[in-house]
Amino acid sequence: MYVCICNRLKEDLIRSLAEQGLGFEEIQAITGCSSTCGSCRTFAEELVLSVQIRAHQVMPLRVVASTA
Ligand code: FES
Repeated sequence: MYVCICNRLKEDLIRSLAEQGLGFEEIQAITGCSSTCGSCRTFAEELVLSVQIRAHQVMPLRVVASTA
């Protein structure tokens, strides 16, 4: 599924970059996502946020405890 039609960016690419720890602004700088018409921005930001939230949910407890 395309996230950004203007730049032909698919969900798999955005998700993969987010899983590597990149934030929305970094992904935007690399891919150009949301840099043309901007209509995809909300969806793209929510996609990145959902990956970030999931990454934190599966973080081992001892890692969470050591950073608190
Ligand atoms: S759809 Fe992403 S910038 Fe237009």
